[in-house]
Amino acid sequence: KRSKSSRRGILLTGLCDSGKTLIFSQLIHNKNVQTHTSIKENIANYISSNNGVLKVVDIPGHERLRNKFFDQHKEVTKGIVYVVDSSTLTQDIRDAAEFLYNILIDPVIQKNRPNLLILCNKQDQTFAKGGSAIKSIFEKELNTLRITKSSQLESVDPNVKNAAKLGNSNEDFDFAALPMKVDIAESYAFHKNGMVDIEGLKKWLARQV
Ligand code: GTP
Ligand code: MG
Repeated sequence: KRSKSSRRGILLTGLCDSGKTLIFSQLIHNKNVQTHTSIKENIANYISSNNGVLKVVDIPGHERLRNKFFDQHKEVTKGIVYVVDSSTLTQDIRDAAEFLYNILIDPVIQKNRPNLLILCNKQDQTFAKGGSAIKSIFEKELNTLRITKSSQLESVDPNVKNAAKLGNSNEDFDFAALPMKVDIAESYAFHKNGMVDIEGLKKWLARQV
């Protein structure tokens, strides 16, 4: 059994195209790269501003791959960065919320309670939603999902019995009611003028060491 201090893993996860690999590249190599949809994970040590060492893992977002890689790394996870494309979230909210929901009800995640950062990326895009709007959009959708999942009592889905555990089911879903600490930050990892802002992520990482 691993103690909390031996868990140094930080998982970058989220839907395809949210910007995980570009963020990984900016964070680890300090450079802009041309990315393609990932088929395997990227792993590197990251030294935080306060000299802590974290192991950052960029997980492919593809539906067929993400669970396999997530399962491989979840035991050593100290923090999860859930990366969101803030410019397309309104269209993708169902998928984005269901993916997040499945992470939150994972038995290993429920046991270890890693900290969670919802990273609202692509803030350079004109129609990007801000962090607080994104938080409410997720809370609303997760509330709906929680109701739907817990009413599927006849279902064979083994996750159903965990549905009620996601916060206080007598009240509307609220990140603050989860057993793990949830933070929201904004970022942009690519900009046509070569500007990047991943400071919110870096500050959060410094608090994970
Ligand atoms: P998968 O590997 O498929 O899960 O995707 P990913 O989350 O790793 O996305 P990736 O980093 O490959 O980025 C997808 C596309 O979005 C690329 O064309 C990036 O250049 C672009 N991108 C990433 N972050 C930003 C951002 O902050 N702003 C803008 N405008 N584009 C971004
Ligand atoms: Mg990728």
